[in-house]
Amino acid sequence: MFTVDVTAKVWRRLLEVRRGRACTCCGQWSAGERAALDLYGPLARRDLGPSAVAQIGQSLDGRVATVTGDARDVSGPDGLAHLHRMRALADAVLIGVRTALHDSPRLTVRLCDGGNPARVVIDPQGRLPDDAPLLAEDGVRRIVIQAVDRPRRSDVTVIRLRSRDGQLDPGEIASALHGEGLQSLLVEGGGITIARFLEARLLTRLQLAIAPLLIGDGPQGLTLPASQTRLADAIRPVTRAFSLGTDVVFDCGLRDEASLATQPVHGAPGR
Ligand SMILES: NC(=O)c1ccc[n+]([C@@H]2O[C@H](COP(=O)([O-])OP(=O)(O)OC[C@H]3O[C@@H](n4cnc5c(N)ncnc54)[C@H](OP(=O)(O)O)[C@@H]3O)[C@@H](O)[C@H]2O)c1
Repeated sequence: MFTVDVTAKVWRRLLEVRRGRACTCCGQWSAGERAALDLYGPLARRDLGPSAVAQIGQSLDGRVATVTGDARDVSGPDGLAHLHRMRALADAVLIGVRTALHDSPRLTVRLCDGGNPARVVIDPQGRLPDDAPLLAEDGVRRIVIQAVDRPRRSDVTVIRLRSRDGQLDPGEIASALHGEGLQSLLVEGGGITIARFLEARLLTRLQLAIAPLLIGDGPQGLTLPASQTRLADAIRPVTRAFSLGTDVVFDCGLRDEASLATQPVHGAPGR
């Protein structure tokens, strides 16, 4: 297990990597700073093409909330800071409408330096009210993906996609967002939305941030509709473990380019 130390110096470097102005390999770093570059570097890099990373904050027993729906906050302080760093490194953060309705998240970067990503909600039936916090105007793009012709305020972009049996194709969602210039997507939940992307093989990485508490019952972080009956058929991603302090992150590479992204790159422009 690697212990991550996100010093101001290493975070500045990662923001430069995100802008394409630096690499993750050069420089003098402590072991903790090097671990931070290894964890966040693949999310900051833009030289490997479009990416979609999902992250779930869950308890030791795999829950994201209690049976009454209390979900704030499963993650400890370092897990929350980690989530905000992930947002700061992404072009867009994307959630399902059930999370938007249940948690009313702002999806902004508040616990680290860095700009806010675009905010995207998958809302096929147009259920999200116009005064939802994530639609608040703050200079950042806000996008609603809908299957119905529900009008939105002029400062909110609507992407209209066709649903089949009530489902939108995650590949069409990703393509539409890439078409809007959003290449690096953070799929922040909930479990239904992440499962759709995972099943469509669109996730480059899946991060499980485990906080040391036992909830006992309540919604699971992730349930795949097409589960395996034999362990031999289970998905076994290439996984790295990082201690953040209060929480532990399992960082799973799900595609070939994810493994490539964990290799340091030499000769990045303008370092
Ligand atoms: N701990 C964490 O990291 C974390 C993060 C986020 C959320 N959460 C928790 O997760 C819970 C909500 O998650 P959830 O899994 O129930 O729901 P969700 O993923 O937030 O939202 C699912 C809904 O989004 C729409 N949707 C998403 N992908 C779609 C697709 N491909 N095609 C069509 N519609 C799609 C559907 O809306 P319709 O229902 O309108 O059809 C679907 O029911 C809350 O309790 C929240 O607190 C935890």
